[in-house]
Amino acid sequence: MDAMFGMLSDPDSRTMAPFFAIDFADRAEFEDKMAAMANDDTVKMYSMMAGGHFVGAIMTFDGPAGREVFYWIRRIAWGRGLATEAMARMLNIDHTRPVYAHVLSTNPRALAVLENCGFHEVSRRDAIETPAPDDEDILLVKD
Ligand SMILES: CC(C)(COP(=O)(O)OP(=O)(O)OC[C@H]1O[C@@H](n2cnc3c(N)ncnc32)[C@H](O)[C@@H]1OP(=O)(O)O)[C@@H](O)C(=O)NCCC(=O)NCCS
Repeated sequence: MDAMFGMLSDPDSRTMAPFFAIDFADRAEFEDKMAAMANDDTVKMYSMMAGGHFVGAIMTFDGPAGREVFYWIRRIAWGRGLATEAMARMLNIDHTRPVYAHVLSTNPRALAVLENCGFHEVSRRDAIETPAPDDEDILLVKD
């Protein structure tokens, strides 16, 4: 939980993926949110482990578009292909399709992960509540 909290409260990472509507600087709120997700049968959380260490998480849940996926890697582990490998493994375990994902247009790493795993763009719209004024919220799907 400490590693998860550190990962989700990293300011730059939150700017890349502000979709979690929660203030992760607040540890108590984080604990409540994790407990609620653990008790929700529609939420599936996968931990990513590398070299015996927790390096990230993938979560699937029921969102407005349908089944959605959300993923996050600890900053110290970026750029090693771990997100792509973990996403591919998750998709081999969970065959629910279609599965959707939201990515900001200013987040090319996240876009590359999804496209490498066979997702394609469905639509885009102006992103709200992000620092970059021209940011777009891209919806992708894997059929
Ligand atoms: C996005 C995130 C998951 C990527 O994790 P990662 O383990 O570094 O990703 P990978 O190493 O598997 O793949 C990154 C891809 O981005 C590419 N990439 C890296 N920097 C890039 C850049 N500036 N422009 C374009 N592509 C870039 C890499 O080349 C790689 O693609 P490739 O495999 O085709 O070469 C990680 O940065 C993160 O957790 N960010 C915060 C949360 C987030 O953004 N989540 C996703 C939205 S829900």
